[in-house]
Amino acid sequence: MSLHSIPRPSPIDGYPTKTSHLQAETEEILQSHLPKAGAPPVLNKNAHLQFLVRNLVQGFPARYMSQDASQPWLMFWTLQSFSALQVGIDPNNKQRAIDTIMAWQHQDGGFGGGPGQAAHLLATYASVCSLAIVGRPGPGGGWDQIDREKLYKFYMSLKQPDGSFIVSTHGEVDVRGIYCLLVVAYLLNIITPELIAGTASFIASCQTYEGGFSSASHPYFSAQPDEDAPPLCLPFPRPSLGEAHGGYTFCGLASWVLLKPFLSETEPKPSIDEKRLLRWLVYTQGNEAELGGFKGRTNKLVDGCYSWWNGGEFALLEAVGISSYNHPSEHERHVDSTDENWADADDSLFNRKALQEYILLAGQHGTGGLRDKPPKNADSYHTLYCLAGLSAAQHRVFPSLPRKSQLTTSWKPTGETNEDLHKIAFTEALCWLEEEGGSKIVGPASNRVNATHPLFNLTATHTEGIIAHFYQQTVPK
Ligand code: FPP
Repeated sequence: MSLHSIPRPSPIDGYPTKTSHLQAETEEILQSHLPKAGAPPVLNKNAHLQFLVRNLVQGFPARYMSQDASQPWLMFWTLQSFSALQVGIDPNNKQRAIDTIMAWQHQDGGFGGGPGQAAHLLATYASVCSLAIVGRPGPGGGWDQIDREKLYKFYMSLKQPDGSFIVSTHGEVDVRGIYCLLVVAYLLNIITPELIAGTASFIASCQTYEGGFSSASHPYFSAQPDEDAPPLCLPFPRPSLGEAHGGYTFCGLASWVLLKPFLSETEPKPSIDEKRLLRWLVYTQGNEAELGGFKGRTNKLVDGCYSWWNGGEFALLEAVGISSYNHPSEHERHVDSTDENWADADDSLFNRKALQEYILLAGQHGTGGLRDKPPKNADSYHTLYCLAGLSAAQHRVFPSLPRKSQLTTSWKPTGETNEDLHKIAFTEALCWLEEEGGSKIVGPASNRVNATHPLFNLTATHTEGIIAHFYQQTVPK
């Protein structure tokens, strides 16, 4: 993809619809964001920082009022954006954040979307990940004030017979909730065989005929055959009837990667179709007319947030044996995006250069913050997931086998009943390394953002800190 040739618009079938008009209009707007010849795209870090600081210190503008139940998300998107931009938070603001987060903990375990709100799997994920960034051990530090016993009981209360979880008491099943539960269970060392029994089968049943994952599988289509179900002409295990979507696919694939090491050798193992997944995923990257951004689902529009949900999936595929990079480069390259040699230097399964260009040219809002696409406004959600996507396109983070064996041998026995399980979780969480010399940065070197953990979307430092703390503790029963 070159920034200086005029790309052809996406082909049309001669039957104009609202959708085809929207697609053409989007392509036209995106093309108008191509830079003048010779101008390298720059990540306007200062403007983005000001956008984030404004929200954190002055509070969110009134239009965020409808997101009252998403307070943990607004916190996580803001704090993790600081991490991506390589900016630390001062102790006073850290403490303010910890105190705010701890007010969301529910008396019966888990975290709600705000003080006094019902506990929810998604709010718990955003709260715990925020605490991974700003928290610390000891009184008032947040980490030791998380009630892991009650949290574990709350999780078990949400468990369904097919291995899935509802997102809150009386709530619905959603693969996003399962991903959130597993991340927290990993970080806080509360995984037990009872907690994860059957969950990998449920996740596998969410894969659709396209290859991506949907939000949940219909009960008739779960991996456990149901004798009362009507006969179906589909092979078993049957693909989910829902629609494949980048957001759900990230959660499904990450859950699969988190669960796969625990699959029992003795029971029939569920499986996913990795090649079909890969084929679907590579086709979700937009063409030249769409500036190489990703779309969430087939025939929909590109959106900056899928830079992470879809762009981030390539690193996860490395954990199931599909490597995006066959020939790692020997040294870090800062590549002028007009550099004709880029294609030779990049052999990954997605166009890393084009994704960076989409984020830099279309994702940045002139007054700070990042967005879905022009002419939309910036918001906290898109700011984080554009920055995280930029990170996924810049760096190669992969599960390292030598690191795995090092971690396995360095594991200190805890005397727990499920010792092996905890050793596996500890190793799987920490074995991801950033490939030295594997980074490719479009534009000036100052465009570099921090690498992020492909499973947790936290920096390596924050992941290691919280895991080192909780893996010295016993697991709640
Ligand atoms: C469709 O929106 C999008 C969804 C129904 C959900 C997408 C899920 C995620 C982004 C994952 C979230 C992850 C966690 C951990 C909570 P749309 O119709 O507005 O967008 P589209 O046209 O791009 O599909």
